[in-house]
Amino acid sequence: MNPAPNLVLVGPMGAGKTSIGRRLAERFGLQFVDADHYIEQRTGASINTIFEHVGEAGFRERERCALSELLAGEGQLVATGGGAVLDADNRRHMRERGFVVYLAAGLDAQLKRLQRDRTRPLLQRADREQVLRDLAHVREPLYREVADLVMDTDGLTAAEASTRLCLQL
Ligand code: S3P
Repeated sequence: MNPAPNLVLVGPMGAGKTSIGRRLAERFGLQFVDADHYIEQRTGASINTIFEHVGEAGFRERERCALSELLAGEGQLVATGGGAVLDADNRRHMRERGFVVYLAAGLDAQLKRLQRDRTRPLLQRADREQVLRDLAHVREPLYREVADLVMDTDGLTAAEASTRLCLQL
């Protein structure tokens, strides 16, 4: 029952932002938008290809433009990419234009959910666990800073998590 124009999900890769977001959007009659999918549609290139051609910095620039466009709208549930909180403008936009939910997940849960994934450029390495740990070290405080609400998704299915969240929004 919060009056924010949009609902915004933040959190690390493998926290369930997309699967939980889809369910929540349906429940609340919001339009579901996955920011990465939006970037892929608008650029006509996959996230992997964008990283290959213009590097992470080029991807972040496109991510900033996409979030600025998306958050200008209303009635949406926006699932952001795990690194979107790195940018101060993104964090400000999220807070100004949305109610922000941080979906937290422990390392084990992330690794399990991402086991077969090949779409995330930052995880194309053997030492995935260390990569995720290093990212969490930098990003966890930013997720907390931007969030209106924090929910731990460990041990929950997407359906359970969205039901639990449904009563807190
Ligand atoms: C990234 C997370 C990905 C995607 C890109 C970079 C990150 O999104 O934006 O691969 O920096 O954590 P998800 O969090 O939806 O996997």
